[in-house]
Amino acid sequence: MHTGSFPRTRMRRNRRDDWSRRLVRERPLGVDDLIWPVFVQEGDNQRTPIPAMPGVERLSIDILCEEVGRAAELGIPAVALFPIVDPATKSEEAREATNPENLVCRAVRALKERVKNIGVICDVALDPFTSHGQDGLVRDGYVVNDETVAMLQKQAVVQAQAGCDVIAPSDMMDGRIGAVRDALDREGFIHTRIMSYAAKYASAYYGPFRHAMDTARNLGAADKRTYQMDPGNSDEAVREAALDLDEGADMLMVKPGMPYLDIVRRLKEELRAPTYVYQVSGEYAMLRSTADLGRLDFRAAMLEALAGFKRAGADGILTYSAVDAARWLKNG
Ligand code: PBG
Repeated sequence: MHTGSFPRTRMRRNRRDDWSRRLVRERPLGVDDLIWPVFVQEGDNQRTPIPAMPGVERLSIDILCEEVGRAAELGIPAVALFPIVDPATKSEEAREATNPENLVCRAVRALKERVKNIGVICDVALDPFTSHGQDGLVRDGYVVNDETVAMLQKQAVVQAQAGCDVIAPSDMMDGRIGAVRDALDREGFIHTRIMSYAAKYASAYYGPFRHAMDTARNLGAADKRTYQMDPGNSDEAVREAALDLDEGADMLMVKPGMPYLDIVRRLKEELRAPTYVYQVSGEYAMLRSTADLGRLDFRAAMLEALAGFKRAGADGILTYSAVDAARWLKNG
C-alpha cells in the first residue's frame, strides 16, 4: 500500500472545501440507504408515544399508511414492521403468529393496497406472539430449534400471502433461512426476498425495543443467549452469514450497529453480499435521550452514526430516524 508521507501528503487537503469533501466521499449516505422500522398497533387514528424511545410512536394501521406514504415520497426504499400484539392473543405456542388475519398481516395488506413504491419488510420470529417473550417455542426451559423453524415457515408464508416483500428472520434458529426459502418457494413466492438477521448478537441494546413491544415484562430476567450470538465473537458471524447465503439469503444484516461495525466490514469484505446494519433501539435512545438533555446535537450525532455505518461497508441501515434523516439529506 502506498500512502506517501508528510509534507507531500496532506490528508487535510481534500478535507478543506465542501466540493472536495464531496468529491472524495467514499460512500456518501443517501436516502436510498434508509430502512424505517415502525411499530404497529391496533385501533383507528391512534398514535401512542413510546416512553423508552422518545420521538418514536406506535401507529394504528390507518396512520401507518399515511406515514409510510410520506416516507415513500421522501424516497425511503423500505419499511420494517413490528406489531404490538394484544396480550390476550399471546400464548406459549405463539399461535397468533400464523394467523393470516393477525395485526402484521393486516398492516401489510393495507400498505400494499394504499402505498406505492416502498418495500415492506416483516420480522420472522415468535417473540411478539409468545407469552414468555422468547423468539421460539420453549420445551423444558429451552428454546427448541426444529419445532420453532416449522412455525417460522408458516409465519413467513402468511406474511408473504399478505404481500410482504422481504421476509426478515430475526430468530437465530439454525437452518431457518433454507427452511423459510423452501416454504416460500413451495407456495409460489419465488420473488419474496429474504433479509437474514445473520449476525444477531445477544445484546443489551435491545432494551428499549422490548419495552416498546411490551415483551420485556414477559421475558423478565430470562435472556436469549442460547440462540443469539455472543458479543465477543467475530469468526462465528462470518460463518453464520455464510451459512445463510448458502441457504438462500438475498441480504444479510448485522445487529446491533455501532458496537459491531467491525462485523459489518468483515461480512462485506469476505462475503461481498448486500449487507445491512440495524441501528437498534438502545443506540437510538442513547442519542435521543442525551440530546433531550441538551447535551448533544441529535441531527449531527445521528448523521455521523449513519455515515459510520456506510464507511464500515453497509449497503443500507435500519434506523428509527430514517424519516428525519431523509429530510435532513434532502434539505442539505
Ligand atoms: C425480535 C427482535 C428484536 C429486535 C428486532 N427483532 C429484539 C430481540 O431480539 O429481543 C430489536 C430491535 C431493536 O432493539 O431496535 N426478534
